[in-house]
Amino acid sequence: MAKIVSLAKRRGFIFQSSEVYGGFGSCYDFGPLGVEMKNNIKQVWWEEMTKKQENIVGLDAAILMSPRVWQASGHLTAGFADLLVECKSCHKRFRVDELRDSPGTVPQKCPECGGQLTEPRKFNLMMKTLVGPVEEEAATAYLRAETCQGIYVNFENILNSMRLKIPFGVAQIGKAFRNEITPGDFIYRTREFEQMEMQWFCHPKEAKKYFDFWKKERLKWYLNLGIKKENLRIKEVPAKERPHYARQALDLEYKFPFGWREIEGIHNRGDWDLSNHSRFSGKDLRYVDEEKKEKYFPHIIETSGGADRSFLAFLIDVYTEIKGGRAKKASFLFPPSLSLGRTKTTKAAKEIEILLKLDKKIAPIKIAVLPLVRNKPKLVKKTKEVYQILKPHFTCQYDELGSIGRRYRRQDEIGTIFCLTCDFQTLKDNTLTIRERDTMKQERVKISDLTKILEEKLGK
Ligand code: GAP
Repeated sequence: MAKIVSLAKRRGFIFQSSEVYGGFGSCYDFGPLGVEMKNNIKQVWWEEMTKKQENIVGLDAAILMSPRVWQASGHLTAGFADLLVECKSCHKRFRVDELRDSPGTVPQKCPECGGQLTEPRKFNLMMKTLVGPVEEEAATAYLRAETCQGIYVNFENILNSMRLKIPFGVAQIGKAFRNEITPGDFIYRTREFEQMEMQWFCHPKEAKKYFDFWKKERLKWYLNLGIKKENLRIKEVPAKERPHYARQALDLEYKFPFGWREIEGIHNRGDWDLSNHSRFSGKDLRYVDEEKKEKYFPHIIETSGGADRSFLAFLIDVYTEIKGGRAKKASFLFPPSLSLGRTKTTKAAKEIEILLKLDKKIAPIKIAVLPLVRNKPKLVKKTKEVYQILKPHFTCQYDELGSIGRRYRRQDEIGTIFCLTCDFQTLKDNTLTIRERDTMKQERVKISDLTKILEEKLGK
């Protein structure tokens, strides 16, 4: 993890929030590469849900909602709380489920100082805020703890405006907030995070069928984006450990360096949400099936993934260190025009190279455009022209600093799919080399064909 955290900071993926002030409790900022990569993950998820699947529409609901929403959903009552113990000596707080050796047992000693622990008590995770200009008169509101409640309270609006028929789904991506007792493991558990949730409304009799369907779909999504099969598993959540709203639940778990942990939850929420919102709001949120002459609360199957957690899983899964390996033959580092069969071990060969084999859809930078050397103005000018041609179509970087071999390695380290190098031949015949990240194979192509070739290679 230390290596991932260090790479994330060094290369502009993730920074500690408010770092100049010493940081702010488990909050993180996504840097220039991080925001590209996270946007890519969200974009691929959005396309998968709203474009590839049938009958799923999108929503972007407000973070602040009526506090009644959270009463109805059960989040303000004991339902949405972690069991917590406090050390009587050092006053540190711990989640009981993280301290227990086996289910059902109550931890006795503080893991930090060995002091005595209090009896477990419930700690609500909702984050409070005040809404209104005058503090004394302001209403208490809550930052949403899950994005899906915005979908449930819009159920009728969406149904009527889009003329949908059961079964259908609503997808949403957005921030959620929880006052976690023990945030940690970098961006794995934070108090502000982003969820990618899809709520599937179906006939109660079909809930089990769709639960299985979405389980398979979601597993496939991670595998198709390159997560290694051996690092992913499904855990059925036993009744005792299920969230308060779930009749059936499973966790998709990833094998992080700190152990197997949930990256996505799939829940059969039954009619919990719509029936409670009906009761609390006084609005009948039942679905009317005119053809079958039926009126019922649709059951909800939800797929609830974390954009931050999957970001971390995607990054960890592809992080590879190569001790000198790829650099051993200098011929790999240079375009064919220069390599001339050189096989001498370079200084770089002794260094550890980092390679991120990120899926092409997720990689933050798709293409790097590089002049072979930077002290030849004509070559630099030509390379910049190529960069300008590609920039509107792809996420590109122009880089001229350091040797060409070093620049290739810098790009490998952030998962850039292709490096394009302009050399002296480019000035003669308007061709350049494309180097592919994983194979390091190089091919020479015409600049005039470049956009089309890259679009094909990147599957645009
Ligand atoms: N609507 C259901 C729901 O929110 P959850 O299992 O509590 O279910 C779903 O959360 C996903 O949201 C998790 O699998 C995780 O990816 C993400 N998530 C939850 N709490 C998080 C936290 N404190 N930090 C980062 N991600 C979190």
